[in-house]
Amino acid sequence: MGQYVIEGRNRLCGSVRVHGAKNSALPILAACVAVGRPCVIHNCPDLSDINSTVKILRSLGCDVRRNDGTVFVDSSRISSACITDGLMREQRSSIIFLGSLLSARGEAVMSAPGGCDIGLRPIDIHLMSMKKLGVKISESHGEIRCTAGRLTGGKVVLPFPSVGATENIILASVKSSGVTTIINAAREPEIVDLAMFLNSCGARISGAGESTVVIEGVERLYSSQYAIMPDRIVACTYMAAAAVTGSTVVIDEVIPAHLVPVFSSFEQAGCRIEVSGSKIRISSPERLRAFDRIQTMPYPGFPTDCQAIMMSVACIADGITLINENIFENRFRHVTELRRMGAEIYVQDKTAVVNGVRNLQGTLVHSTDLRAGAALVVAGLCAEGRTTVDRICYIDRGYDSLAENLTALGAVIKRKD
Ligand code: UD1
Repeated sequence: MGQYVIEGRNRLCGSVRVHGAKNSALPILAACVAVGRPCVIHNCPDLSDINSTVKILRSLGCDVRRNDGTVFVDSSRISSACITDGLMREQRSSIIFLGSLLSARGEAVMSAPGGCDIGLRPIDIHLMSMKKLGVKISESHGEIRCTAGRLTGGKVVLPFPSVGATENIILASVKSSGVTTIINAAREPEIVDLAMFLNSCGARISGAGESTVVIEGVERLYSSQYAIMPDRIVACTYMAAAAVTGSTVVIDEVIPAHLVPVFSSFEQAGCRIEVSGSKIRISSPERLRAFDRIQTMPYPGFPTDCQAIMMSVACIADGITLINENIFENRFRHVTELRRMGAEIYVQDKTAVVNGVRNLQGTLVHSTDLRAGAALVVAGLCAEGRTTVDRICYIDRGYDSLAENLTALGAVIKRKD
């Protein structure tokens, strides 16, 4: 399972480079199937979720080669539209192959996806959207069989701006014979990155990043090279690491505009943030202050993926911070672990009330999902004594070289496999 062993209370300094965004890289790699020609994807992080996606691509018959952060995907000879249950269960993002396979093969056979246990995570919006586009869906013994000829496009109104469903609709309709309009689309930067990649292959997608996205189907797509955008959640994690250790750190290769939803919480906590080009410099006070209520929301609201990480910050901030989780119904599992470290947190329904303490104490804690694990690492950096974060396989899903990067900043953190 692996552990991180952290000796807390070391000040950080220097600069850290943020790697490519997991949540962009996964749909873009899946999109290569829809492209049907060789593609070169740069700035791809080295993560276990990326490994799972590469396994799916290969199982479909794609030729995939990796060289550091560059992944070559040639889907011109895919031989299957079927993803095994074992591969589907490795991550949530496997569902994005649904739209991509429908574009490439007119069919997709798969089971429900896996992923971090942060709530029910149904796929009803994905399936409803595909039906709206004319896809025939049958489900039996856990297998979902989707078939369609060349799609003709249509109008899909999403009941909730689901990130994955928006991506699937874009992928399913990118080579349709008509025009598809998504109303109430997710506006996350990862949607924009996917659309920019597909447009670089000759797709005609407009409005990505807004609530209405229009996809004019094209006959074919072409080879392209594309660099994945920086990971905004990883950037927020390094900001939190600086904040809880009273440090000044430069976080490099970020798109600061993507982090605006989290800036105000850090500033209210007493941190100074200076932005210059693709760099953010965060300077933190000796004692953080409690910040205004966090309400997780679809972008451009506060990201649910930063909720656990900011809770670790709130744990040692002077005063009471309220945190509402509005996106997932079971995303407070880190609370029990933070309490083991001496945090004072009370949860009622969707709200966590965090009464900041002066110090956390190091102990053995378990990662319960990807961002919960990252939150525990942040807590360990400021805790007295030794913190052992267990089950770091969850953290490996989304953080490339986390211990190395924190060590370079001055943290004392060792990986034990
Ligand atoms: C993506 C991100 C994840 C992030 C989430 C919200 C990836 C790989 N993952 O996940 O890190 O936390 O966006 O920003 O990009 N829902 C349904 N039915 C559906 C689809 C979603 O009820 O068919 C619900 C989910 O259970 C959840 C909410 O809608 O409560 C948001 O889900 P969604 O936006 O689809 O998130 P993901 O694409 O799974």
